[in-house]
Amino acid sequence: MTSKQLTNDADWWRQAVVYQIYPRSFADSDGDGLGDLQGIVSRVPYLEALGIDAVWLSPFYPSALADGGYDVDDYRAVDPRLGTLADIDQLVDALHAANIKLIVDIVPNHTSDRHAWFTEALAAPKGSPARERYIFREGDGDQPPSDWDSVFGGSAWAQTADGQWYLHMFAAEQPDLNWEHPEVRADFLQTLRFWSDRGVDGFRVDVAHALMKDLSEPMPSQATLPRVSESYGLHPLWDRDGVHEIYREWRQVLNEYDPPRSAVAEAFVPASRRARYASADGLGQAFNFDLLQADWEYDKFRQVIEENLALADQNGSSSTWVFSNHDVVRHATRYGLPKDPSGLWQDGKAWLLSNGTEPTVDVELGLRRARAAVLLMLALPGSAYLYQGEELGLQEVGELPAANLQDPAYFRSKGAEKGRDGCRVPIPWTVGGLSFGFGSGGSHLLQPKWFGGYSVEAQEGDVSSTLSLYRKALAVRRGLQTGNSLTWVDGTDWVLHFTRPGGWQSITNFGVAPVELPDAAVVLSSGPLEGDKLPSDTTAWLI
Ligand code: GLC
Repeated sequence: MTSKQLTNDADWWRQAVVYQIYPRSFADSDGDGLGDLQGIVSRVPYLEALGIDAVWLSPFYPSALADGGYDVDDYRAVDPRLGTLADIDQLVDALHAANIKLIVDIVPNHTSDRHAWFTEALAAPKGSPARERYIFREGDGDQPPSDWDSVFGGSAWAQTADGQWYLHMFAAEQPDLNWEHPEVRADFLQTLRFWSDRGVDGFRVDVAHALMKDLSEPMPSQATLPRVSESYGLHPLWDRDGVHEIYREWRQVLNEYDPPRSAVAEAFVPASRRARYASADGLGQAFNFDLLQADWEYDKFRQVIEENLALADQNGSSSTWVFSNHDVVRHATRYGLPKDPSGLWQDGKAWLLSNGTEPTVDVELGLRRARAAVLLMLALPGSAYLYQGEELGLQEVGELPAANLQDPAYFRSKGAEKGRDGCRVPIPWTVGGLSFGFGSGGSHLLQPKWFGGYSVEAQEGDVSSTLSLYRKALAVRRGLQTGNSLTWVDGTDWVLHFTRPGGWQSITNFGVAPVELPDAAVVLSSGPLEGDKLPSDTTAWLI
């Protein structure tokens, strides 16, 4: 059975190819420099031709954009600069007509500081019920209640005019909600219903592992906090067991729909803790960022794949695979960077390229590996998440001028970290034009001159282009992807070779010298072959 035939099935998400759209940088229909919903509607034929199963739409809600839209003013409305609720309905219809599902982002850990609840909390006196929906505490004189750092740098506490402090694990404009509060819980259930009623097929849950916190006093100091990857439920701020009670309630609501709405957790937790987020009575699926964080190395890839397939089997979910998203340096660039002795890619901080100290990127090598990586990923059992522009082999934009940067990580680190804007630059549709076909106006993040060469227009008619590779790969995968099993073919230590049901083989050469291909018909390869040999940094599919 192919995945398109599965689309009305409750299990459609298990083997789906999901394409992430960062709406403010995809397509701009009204020329204001900011992508919008009608822009996406106009590109549905492109998405259909690409061959994806679902779109994951990053936040499109009203927002001051203190954190790219992850600072939400109102969870049940559309940013007027992006469109209206009617535009969402139109988008749902257009995608569904093309047999594409829609997953929307939901941001439960924090609201924006412009959310009605937070405005009310600030206007209310200390100790009033309006403040209980957030995490307000007294400090110690002019010192915050603890020395905790926010993820984006600087203190995790901000002071109000009357001297109290509120917790914000991200930017100060993103106050953390108090998930012990019944009204907070009830309101998010209403939001899940609101979008599900409108035909949305699933949810991507932002920092799903952050909601519950242990704020008992004395709060431990930052220096004594365990690493999240080693805390196993004992960290006061991340991945606490209590969070799963929330998702059990969510699952009940999501299961009221036919087919049940899907959900995928963004949870930076150790692999063994991921299963809880992905359980059938929880969200159902969780992102696995292990390949995204792995260097381009045979051993690492093999270990990550084995571990994650075993875990998905154990908990009855399916694995997820992803190389790029709106938070990390594009993988076509990462794979072209010199090997990183500092462990830059660890702990999900792949986006923390220090400002001004980027090493030289081997663009050609990066692209060759990125193309090999995507064929490898698409041959694995489970669902594959793609990020807009990766189908063009797009590189990170490293040269954004400081005055154009938007990421709070840049500002809160006082420029020490460049942040994530380089992967969020609006994608190029045409070779030329004011914003390379993004819209009739400019572009809120400046596109470099070299963007035109990566455009859809430049690649469309070229059979060897990265766009053509993605289109072919998705079409071939649709006919071959079935079941959850994978069998390793052991041979050379730097060649990742496996078979899937139906005789589908995928073989990737991580080594430096070409290797002999097995005796079978090559259906697709990520780069040119050398006779019957597979060159370095290349993947081939055979049958
Ligand atoms: C998630 C999002 C990221 C955002 C953060 C805070 O990690 O992917 O973009 O900044 O949550 O909401």
